Amino acid sequence: MKSICSSSPWAAVVALVCWGSVLAAEAPGIDQAAAKIAVNICSNCHGPGGHSTSPVFPRLAGQQELYLAAQIRAFKAKERGDPEAHDYMWGMATLLDDPMVAGLAKYFAEQAPAPGTPGDPALIEAGHKLFLEGDPEKGILACAGCHGADAQGNAIFPRLAGQHKAYLARQIDVIQRQLRNSPIMHGVVQNLQPDQIRAVTEYLSAQ
Ligand code: HEC
Ligand code: HEC
Repeated sequence: MKSICSSSPWAAVVALVCWGSVLAAEAPGIDQAAAKIAVNICSNCHGPGGHSTSPVFPRLAGQQELYLAAQIRAFKAKERGDPEAHDYMWGMATLLDDPMVAGLAKYFAEQAPAPGTPGDPALIEAGHKLFLEGDPEKGILACAGCHGADAQGNAIFPRLAGQHKAYLARQIDVIQRQLRNSPIMHGVVQNLQPDQIRAVTEYLSAQ
C-alpha cells in the first residue's frame, strides 16, 4: 500500500484514497469514510451520487449492492479487460480494501436511481419485446429472467434501467468479444445482432 500511495502519477487521487483507507482502518465509521471517497474521487467520473452524465462512465446510483462489490473485485482481478476498464478502473480498484469496497457498494446502492431518458418509441417497443421474451430462434434467453421484469436487477444481476445506452452497448460488445470475462452473459448475448443491441439498449436507457 505504501509504495502505491507514494508512487502513482495520480498523486491527488491516490492521496485521497490512501487517506480514506487510513480512516477506514481507524474509525468504526466505514460508511462515512466510503461516502468521503465517493464524493471526493468516484464522483469525478461517475457524477455526484453516481449520477454520471457522460456515457463513458456508467451510472452507479441505485445499482445493486452485491453487483457493485463484485465488479470492483472483478476490476481488481482484471476479469474486466476492455480498454476503459484497464485505463480507468484497474488502478482505482487496487487501492480499495474489502471494507471500503463494501462501504462504497452500499453508498451507491442507496442513491436514488436516475429516471430514464426518452428515446425512439418503435425501437423501445422492439427492445422491450426482446427484453421480455428473448429470441428463441437464436438461442437468446429473455433478459428479464435474470435482470428483473423492470430491469431493476437483483443481487449479482445488475440494474440496467436508466443506464447510458452507449455504455450498455459497449458492455455487450466487450462481453461478446470476451474482453470482459462474464461466462453467464457471454452465452446469452453471443448471437445478439447489432439491430437487437440498438433496440434493447434504447429500451433500457428509457426505463
Ligand atoms: C477516472 C475516472 C473514474 C473514476 C475516478 C472512477 N471510475 Fe469507476 N468506472 C470508470 C469507467 C470508465 C468505467 C467503465 C469501465 C468499463 O467500460 O469496463 C467504470 C466502471 C465502474 C464500475 C462498474 C459499473 C457497472 O455497471 O458495471 C464500478 C462499480 C465502478 N466504476 C466503481 C467506482 C468507484 C467505487 C469509484 C471510486 C472509488 C470509481 N469507480 C472511480 C471510470 C472511473
Ligand atoms: C442467465 C442470466 C442472464 C440473462 C438471461 C441476461 N443477463 Fe445480462 N448479466 C447477467 C450477469 C450475471 C451480469 C453481470 C456480469 C458480470 O458479472 O460480469 C450481466 C450483465 C449485463 C450487462 C452489463 C451491465 C453493466 O452495468 O456493466 C448488460 C448490458 C447486460 N447484462 C445485458 C443483458 C441483455 C440485453 C440481456 C438479454 C438479451 C441479458 N443481459 C440477459 C446475467 C444475465
